[in-house]
Amino acid sequence: MKNIRNFSIIAHIDHGKSTLADRIIQECGSVTERELKTQMMDTMDIEQERGITIKAQSVRLDYVKDGEHYILNLIDTPGHVDFSYEVSKSLASSDGALLIVDAAQGVEAQTIANVYLAMENNLELIPVINKIDLPAADPIKVAEEIETSIGIDATDACLVSAKTGVGIRALIDAIVDRVPSPVGDPSATTKAIIYDSWFDQYLGALALVRVFDGQVKKGQNIKLMSNGEEHHILDLMYPHPLKRIKTNTIECGEIGIVVLGLKEVSVINVGDTITDAKNPTAEPVGRYEPAKPFVFAGIYPIDTDDFEDLRDALNKLRLNDSSLSYEPETSLALGFGFRVGFLGMLHMEVVKERLEREFNLDLIASAPSVIYEVYLNNGEKINVHNPSELPEVNKIDRIEEPYVKATVITPSIYLGNIITLLISKRGTQSKMTYLNEDRVMLEYEVPMNEIVVDFYDTLKSISKGYASFDYEPLDFRVGDLVKLDIKVAGEAVDALSIVVPRNQALSRGRILVKNMKEIIPRQLFEVAVQASLGSQIIARETVKSMGKNVTAKCYGGDITRKRKLLEKQKAGKKRMKSIGKVQLPSEAFMSVLKMD
Ligand code: GTP
Repeated sequence: MKNIRNFSIIAHIDHGKSTLADRIIQECGSVTERELKTQMMDTMDIEQERGITIKAQSVRLDYVKDGEHYILNLIDTPGHVDFSYEVSKSLASSDGALLIVDAAQGVEAQTIANVYLAMENNLELIPVINKIDLPAADPIKVAEEIETSIGIDATDACLVSAKTGVGIRALIDAIVDRVPSPVGDPSATTKAIIYDSWFDQYLGALALVRVFDGQVKKGQNIKLMSNGEEHHILDLMYPHPLKRIKTNTIECGEIGIVVLGLKEVSVINVGDTITDAKNPTAEPVGRYEPAKPFVFAGIYPIDTDDFEDLRDALNKLRLNDSSLSYEPETSLALGFGFRVGFLGMLHMEVVKERLEREFNLDLIASAPSVIYEVYLNNGEKINVHNPSELPEVNKIDRIEEPYVKATVITPSIYLGNIITLLISKRGTQSKMTYLNEDRVMLEYEVPMNEIVVDFYDTLKSISKGYASFDYEPLDFRVGDLVKLDIKVAGEAVDALSIVVPRNQALSRGRILVKNMKEIIPRQLFEVAVQASLGSQIIARETVKSMGKNVTAKCYGGDITRKRKLLEKQKAGKKRMKSIGKVQLPSEAFMSVLKMD
C-alpha cells in the first residue's frame, strides 16, 4: 500500500485533461509512442467527435522513482457539469487530485466546482498549470487566480505542457511525493466502492472499484450494500489503456475491474459499496445516492410504429448508462413515447443523438422541463415532470421550483451584460469576486427552469465565448408560476405546454405563437395558433393558407422538376408530425423555449 498513488485529474473543459492523461501514460511506458493514439482514454465515438469525456476511465501505471517501484492509478473524470455525480465518485476513490488550469485562460467555472468536490473528499490538491507552450501563457497570473479564487497555495504549482511533454516527469515525481498513500485495513473484511460501471459486449456488466478495506478475490461471493443483492465474482482485471490485465485479487488501496457476468449494468450502481456476502462490513463507504435526473423531456418516435424499437433502444442504452431513467408516456399530440430523465442538457443531447445514430430512429424531443413540487389544496404534494400534467389552477395551493447556485467567470468588460442576463433570468447575486483587475467570478441563485435551455448559448454569445458557467442544485422555492398552453387549429397540443412565471406569460405567449407561425408550413387552409392560460386566449397568430398547389409554380410543363419537388416534400414529411389536420415540423416542439 505504501507505494500506491490513487489520483484524479480535474479541470475545466478543454484545459487539457485527456491530453495530459495520455502524456502521463506514455511517460510511464505503458504504451509505446506508436500505440499512443491521441486521447486514448476517450473511447466512445461520440466522445472523440465532440472532444468531451463522458464516462470516467481509469488506468493502472507502473513508475520507478529513485529505484523504487510505484503503482499509479490514474482516474480520468468527466469535466462537464452534467456528469458531476461521476466526478464526485471518482474523487471519492482518489487520495489526491491534479487540478489542471490552462495557462492562457486561467481559472474557469468548472475549475471551481471541481475544487469544491475535491475538498469535500479531503484530497491533496496539486495545482498544474498546463499549456505553458502557448504564446499567451501567463503562469504567474494564473497562479494568482488560483490563490484568489480557491484559496490554495499555488507557488509550487507544476508548470507543464501536455502537448510538448515539458514538465511531465517532474509532475509525476510530484504525484509520488505529494499524493498520500492509501489508508485502510488489509486484514478487515471486504469493503470497496463502485465508482464506475459499463457494459462490455463480451464480459457483461463491469464495475470499476476502489478497495478501502480487505481485498476483493476472484471466485468470491459479494453483496451490494444498497440493495443486499448477492453476486459471484467471475474475474478481476486491472485497467490498462490498451488491454485488461487479469489478476486474482485486488488488494486494499488498489483499483480494479470486477466481472460479475451480469447481462445488465443497471444492477451495478455507481456509489454503491461491495462487501463479502458471508462476512459483511458494518458501514458502506460513504452514503449511496442514486443518480438524480434534473431535466425531463418526452421522447417520441416520429413514426408511431417505431415505439417498440424506441423501447428496445432505451433498454440497450441503459445497459451502458445507469443514470438514464425513463417511463412510458402518452401524449394526445405525439402518441406513445417515453418521459426520459436526464442529468442535464448535454446528457439529453447525447442520449438523443445516440438513439438516432446508433439505433436509426427518427425522434421528436419535447421541450425539456425541470421537476416542480406542487402542493395541492387538499394537503397532498406531487412532483410534476411534465408541464401538461400540472393540475388545474383551483386545486393548487403553491408551486415550488428548483433553484441552482450558478457560478460564472468572465472578463470584466462583459460584466454589465452578464448581470443583466442573470437578472432577466430571475437570478439574485450571492457573491462577486475580482480574480484580478480584468476577470470576475459571480455567484447567483437562479431558478433552474431559466438555465436549462438557451442560457449557456446566450452567455457565450454576449461574452464572445469568454465567460464560463457551472451550476449545482440548491433547493426548491415558491414561484408564481402558470402553465401556458398552445392550440394549433383549435386543438390543444399537450407536448407544447410550458411553465412560466406569471408576469412573463403574456410576452412569452406572444413570442411563442409568432415563432410557431414561422415554423408551421402553409397548409391548404388557414391555421390559427393560439396561446392560452386556462381558458383565456392571450395571443394569436394565423398561418395563411397556401392558396394554390405548390407544384403549380413549375408551370405544369417540366415533369422531372415536378417529381423532384414532390419527393423533397415527402422527405420533409418524415420529420413532420400530424396534429389533427396540421403537419408540424419536429423543431416546433423545441421552439417553445426560444426567447426571441
Ligand atoms: P474534456 O475532455 O472535453 O473535458 O477536455 P480536456 O480537458 O480533456 O481537454 P483535451 O485534452 O481534449 O485538450 C483540449 C485542447 O487543448 C486540445 O485541442 C489539445 O490538443 C489542447 N492542449 C492540451 N494540452 C495542451 C498543451 O499543453 N499545449 C497546447 N498548446 N495545447 C494543448
